[in-house]
Amino acid sequence: MATPPRFLFLFLFLVLFLLTFSLVAKADNSTSAKTATPNPFTAKAALIRYWNRKVPNGRPLPAFLVSKLSPLSALDTASFSSLAASGGGAALSPRLPDLCAAARLLCSPSLSSSNASHPSDSAFAGYSNSNFSNYGADRAGGADSFKNYSASENSPIDTFRRYSRDSVGHDDSFALYQPDGNIDTANFTSYATAATGGAGDFSSYAHEGNVPDLKFTNYEADANGRVQKFSSYSDDTNSGGQSFAGYGKHGNGIPLSFTSYGSNSNVMNSDFNNYGEDGNGANDTFTNYGQNGNVPENNFRSYGAAGNAASEKFSNYRDQANVGDDSFTSYAKEDNAGAADFKNYGNSFNQGTDSFKGYGQGSINFTITFGSYYGDNTTFKAYAKTGIIGFNGYRNSSTFPSSAAAALKARRRPTSRWVVEPGKFFRESELKKGTVMPMPDISDRMPARSFLPRSIAGRIPFSAAEVQRVFNMPADTALGKAAADTVAECERPPSRGETKRCATSAEDVIDFAVSVLGNNVVVRSTENTNGSKGSILIGEVKGVNGGSVTKSVSCHQSLFPYLVYYCHSVPKVRVYQAEILAVKTKEKINHGVAICHVDTSDWSPAHGAFVALGPGPGKIEVCHWIFQGDMTWTVAD
Ligand SMILES: *[C@@H]1O[C@H](CO)[C@@H](O)[C@H](O)[C@H]1NC(C)=O
Ligand SMILES: *[C@@H]1O[C@H](CO)[C@@H](O)[C@H](O)[C@H]1NC(C)=O
Ligand SMILES: *[C@@H]1O[C@H](CO)[C@@H](O)[C@H](O)[C@H]1NC(C)=O
Ligand SMILES: *[C@@H]1O[C@H](CO)[C@@H](O)[C@H](O)[C@H]1NC(C)=O
Ligand SMILES: *[C@@H]1O[C@H](CO)[C@@H](O)[C@H](O)[C@H]1NC(C)=O
Ligand SMILES: *[C@@H]1O[C@H](CO)[C@@H](O)[C@H](O)[C@H]1NC(C)=O
Ligand SMILES: *[C@@H]1O[C@H](CO)[C@@H](O)[C@H](O)[C@H]1NC(C)=O
Ligand SMILES: *[C@@H]1O[C@H](CO)[C@@H](O)[C@H](O)[C@H]1NC(C)=O
Ligand SMILES: *[C@@H]1O[C@H](CO)[C@@H](O)[C@H](O)[C@H]1NC(C)=O
Ligand SMILES: *[C@@H]1O[C@H](CO)[C@@H](O)[C@H](O)[C@H]1NC(C)=O
Repeated sequence: MATPPRFLFLFLFLVLFLLTFSLVAKADNSTSAKTATPNPFTAKAALIRYWNRKVPNGRPLPAFLVSKLSPLSALDTASFSSLAASGGGAALSPRLPDLCAAARLLCSPSLSSSNASHPSDSAFAGYSNSNFSNYGADRAGGADSFKNYSASENSPIDTFRRYSRDSVGHDDSFALYQPDGNIDTANFTSYATAATGGAGDFSSYAHEGNVPDLKFTNYEADANGRVQKFSSYSDDTNSGGQSFAGYGKHGNGIPLSFTSYGSNSNVMNSDFNNYGEDGNGANDTFTNYGQNGNVPENNFRSYGAAGNAASEKFSNYRDQANVGDDSFTSYAKEDNAGAADFKNYGNSFNQGTDSFKGYGQGSINFTITFGSYYGDNTTFKAYAKTGIIGFNGYRNSSTFPSSAAAALKARRRPTSRWVVEPGKFFRESELKKGTVMPMPDISDRMPARSFLPRSIAGRIPFSAAEVQRVFNMPADTALGKAAADTVAECERPPSRGETKRCATSAEDVIDFAVSVLGNNVVVRSTENTNGSKGSILIGEVKGVNGGSVTKSVSCHQSLFPYLVYYCHSVPKVRVYQAEILAVKTKEKINHGVAICHVDTSDWSPAHGAFVALGPGPGKIEVCHWIFQGDMTWTVAD
């Protein structure tokens, strides 16, 4: 049984819906049509019929699903459906802008080309989706500053090509660039080529981004004495990736520093390829890089090859991170008289892996120092055993006698731990009346999108290439990548005991729930986001299925141009509904739905739940709230 408030809510919604509809019908007869029944071609009407047929338990179509339906008019639905029916996805492409706007989809922006149309020394603020090419070439002195650029936007694409080429003493400053963005793309190509002097400063770049794709290609190639600084670069981001390729190639004396890069980020990827190749007197420092990250992945390939007198410094690298992997391949190959210094490196909360392949090979007079380098799981393959001087300080605990290894482990114990948002995971015992507990931010951070009607979505092939083509999202943009990741995640074979399906329409969601649970189902989601990021007081708690282990289907939103839900059923869960009260006033502010995973034995020891709660896989149950936009289905009782 749904609780009275929720039922009331649904009921009120239905009343409101019928009322609205009758008003619309009245307005309609004032113009022409004298319809007495709902227009049968709207997405809403179609889904009501579908629901009544598939779930004949007398419950109304859930408001939650209705709110996600396409706002396409009946006319547009018919016309886009017939286009899709005749030519599949390809036929939709030419009408993409219309479809995106009318159906409330998430689409890539069409870029405006801004070719030298800006005055020199510009301060670009509140600017977005621009394609700068050949801007600021041959500039002498001066400065451009980009501030609060593309703030809080959905899927912006910012490209800079041949910017500041051959400039002398010209400064660029990017501050608060793409803050708070969602699925941002930034593409810097051949930026500051052959520039002399001047400085580039990226501070607070892509802060709190969600799934960004940030790329620097041939940046500052052939530059001379130009200083580059990245600070607070993509901190607090969620997944996404950065790539630096051919950066600082043939550069001469270009000091580069990364400070607080990717700190507190979740599953972020960094790729450094052919970085600083052939440089002279490079001076790269990485400080507090990937700190407190969750599963940071860093790849250095052909980094600093053939450099002369390079200095590389890594300190507090991956400090307190939760696992993660670093790989250094062909690093500092054939360098002359350079130095690499790893200090307090890899002091992770949960050990990750490091692999060094072809490190310092062919280098002459190259010094590598590892001071306080931590790694149980490090491989050094084909690193230069000659030519390198001062390979010291490195400790591989697994090759030590066990007493020494234990001593090393004790020393390495981090003073603080990777911070998991308070309340993100909790124990089942906390779900009882009177508990005061933190609540994480359960708000949906993804851009608003709608389901496409099944008659359209069902005809767009669910493949990365096809979706990227139909929706004009190049594979090298954040959105193109996110869609490809969604398809890959959907195609991943289920884990042990898991039943899964990606639903591309509301009808698909219903079908999957019914296929797992039978046709007497009910769907629940947390009512609103009240209580997020603060302390809450738990009021009445009700266990679904009498609080026993129950079958359920949970559906999580995926990133895609239209709504796609990753629905799955995992064994051994208990589902709860809990009143959420304000701590001070005890006033009811939310109605929460929580799910507890009783069997966590297949989970990774590095899972955030164990970082936050302790014990480990199989030793404890783990509960979490159903976030805004997500839902859980069970058999109605
Ligand atoms: C709409 O039609 C009804 C009867 O079907 C009539 O009573 C009403 O006056 C009409 N409204 C308008 C605005 O024409
Ligand atoms: C931009 O400028 C370059 C050279 O300065 C020129 O070749 C190109 O046609 C211009 N593009 C546009 C869209 O004006
Ligand atoms: C940016 O503009 C250049 C010409 O100025 C064009 O060649 C390029 O395709 C544009 N990029 C995008 C992503 O629109
Ligand atoms: C940046 O721009 C966004 C939206 O345009 C605005 O909400 C925010 O306050 C701005 N931040 C600053 C520091 O100017
Ligand atoms: C590298 O740059 C740092 C400042 O960023 C400076 O303190 C240091 O002396 C430089 N090292 C070399 C070898 O130039
Ligand atoms: C290595 O470089 C140092 C200076 O950085 C120099 O003093 C020394 O002679 C060099 N050794 C070799 C073997 O080239
Ligand atoms: C080392 O890493 C591999 C792959 O990530 C993992 O399977 C293995 O368990 C790790 N070994 C240790 C001793 O941590
Ligand atoms: C460190 O230990 C691992 C695991 O025992 C081993 O594979 C690796 O070769 C060792 N590395 C060094 C440099 O001894
Ligand atoms: C990024 O820049 C590269 C090189 O100019 C270009 O080939 C690619 O199309 C660009 N991608 C986007 C999304 O602008
Ligand atoms: C959310 O909480 C506020 C008070 O903090 C309250 O006014 C509002 O009604 C609550 N929303 C719901 C849907 O309960």
